[in-house]
Amino acid sequence: MLTKVFAPAKVNLTLHVTGQRKDGYHLLDSLVVFADVGDRVSVMETEEMRLDVTGPMASGVPTDQSNLVWRAAALFDRPVAITLSKYLPAAAGIGGGSSDAAATLLAMSDLTGQTRLPEGSVELGADVRVCLMRRASRMQGIGEVVEPVPNLPPLFAVLANPRVEVPTPAVFKALTAKENPPMALKLPKWQGTRILIDWVASQRNDLEAPAIAAAPIIADVIASLAALPGARLARMSGSGATCFALFDTREAADAAAATLAQAQPEWWVTPATFS
Ligand code: C5P
Repeated sequence: MLTKVFAPAKVNLTLHVTGQRKDGYHLLDSLVVFADVGDRVSVMETEEMRLDVTGPMASGVPTDQSNLVWRAAALFDRPVAITLSKYLPAAAGIGGGSSDAAATLLAMSDLTGQTRLPEGSVELGADVRVCLMRRASRMQGIGEVVEPVPNLPPLFAVLANPRVEVPTPAVFKALTAKENPPMALKLPKWQGTRILIDWVASQRNDLEAPAIAAAPIIADVIASLAALPGARLARMSGSGATCFALFDTREAADAAAATLAQAQPEWWVTPATFS
């Protein structure tokens, strides 16, 4: 039996760092959405565990136990042949590893009929829990508190990554102000895409400044996105380096993505719809 699961890109529309625990992990308050672009994971029963990585972003992705996908599958104690088709850049702030791990857990659960996730599943990465949810959510704590945010208006976006990998721990380490205000206790009920974009613009990604300090090209990505026709907001996702711009319509996002891809042929650029 073969089970295939889509692993959508995770985007932090907001990322407020509100404190730091004694163990070093940071407390977050983040509105997370998922894109219609992502990786694909398939698992098939076999005699011995193996992982093949294919797709346009496969280069450099490990095919051994160090890959989160392998570790997620191994939790089930059932040897499988995994195929990971990489479309998302790695170490890019859009949850590639966590989303792949979550998709693997879902695929293994389907394959084995084991509905309860094995112990250690959500410890694979701080974003695994929200990636298992696969829908707009508010994420708090260090990522373990995840509440769905229903009825989020659709968002139309361009995602852009300058093909520079930014290691998350280094960005958190470089953050000087660790205690910043959270989002409002109760999130608004946004009536439509424009209102949601205006609200997102009033929020922050507190990791933007330390990420730019580590990889100054991120400032260029944000500026290029903000300058696209129809762009209403440009911001970094996660700890970078992927950034997004928001548009009023999918048509505007498609046109802007084509413009940016032509201007920056070395960058990873794609239009996307977030929900
Ligand atoms: O758990 P994950 O591998 O996604 O996190 C990578 C690193 O990012 C952690 O080792 C930690 O240094 C940092 N991090 C943090 N606070 C969080 C999430 C991640 O400091 N809430």
